Amino acid sequence: MWNYPDILAHRGGGKLAPENTIAGLRCGLEHGFRAVEFDVMLARDGVPVVMHDPYLGRTVAGAGNVFDYDAAELVTMDAGNWFGARFKGETVPLFTAFVQFCKDHGIWMNIEIKPAPGFEEETGRVVASLARALFGLEIARDDARRIPLLSSFSPVALAAAMQAAPDLPRALLLERLEEGWQDQARALQAVAIHTSHKHLDEAQARAVKDAGYGLFCYTVNDPARARTLLGWGVDAFCTDRIDLIGPDFA
Ligand code: G3P
Ligand code: MG
Repeated sequence: MWNYPDILAHRGGGKLAPENTIAGLRCGLEHGFRAVEFDVMLARDGVPVVMHDPYLGRTVAGAGNVFDYDAAELVTMDAGNWFGARFKGETVPLFTAFVQFCKDHGIWMNIEIKPAPGFEEETGRVVASLARALFGLEIARDDARRIPLLSSFSPVALAAAMQAAPDLPRALLLERLEEGWQDQARALQAVAIHTSHKHLDEAQARAVKDAGYGLFCYTVNDPARARTLLGWGVDAFCTDRIDLIGPDFA
C-alpha cells in the first residue's frame, strides 16, 4: 500500500538547484512540488544535517568527512556555489531546519537515512528519534499524509529507526531486488520497497505489489520510462527532472 504522493523531487530540487539545500526546496516549490526526497547524516556532534556524500568537496566547499565537523561548523559551509554562482552562500542545512521549511510549506518528506560508514546504528536511531519528536503531533493525529517516510540502504539503520520510532513508517532501499528481499522487508516491518528503476522489470514490480508493499523507484528522469514504470504498478518515484516531469505527471 502506498498512501503518499507519487512524484517526488529528488534531493530537494532535482538537477535544477544545488542538492539537499533550502534553495532546492524553493526550486521544487516553484515547479509545483509538494513532496521531496532528501538525505540525512550525522555531524561529529551527532546532530543530523542534510547531505548526500559523507565527505566534503563535491557539493560543499572544504575537505575531510562530514563527521570531522560539528553541525555548527557545517551550517556555515557553502553548499551552493559548486552548482552556480547565484547559489553562493547557500549552506548545509540542519535536518531540523530543513524539516521546518518543509512543514511550513506543506511539503511531504521521504527522509533517506544516509549513514557514513560505521555510523549506521547511531544515525538510524538519532534521525528517527528526532523525526518522532518533530512529528509528534502528526503521529498523535494519525495524519498519514503528513507523516514522513524513513528509508535507507542500511538495514542496521532501519532496525535502529524501528526501535527508536516504531510508529514512523519505514521503506527498505535496495539497488536491485535480490533473493531474500522479502525477509529483510518483513524483519524491518517496511511499508514499501524503494529501488533503482534501472534494474527493475515488470515481474519484480508485480511481486512487490503482490506481497503488499508500496513500490517506489529512484531516480526517474525520462518521461517515457516513467510511464512504463507506472504501467507496471510502480506507485511513486523521485526525479531530478522536475522541469520535465511535474507533480501531476501520474
Ligand atoms: O532515496 C532514493 C535515492 O535518493 C537513493 O540514491 O544516492 O540519490 O541518495 P541517492
Ligand atoms: Mg537519496
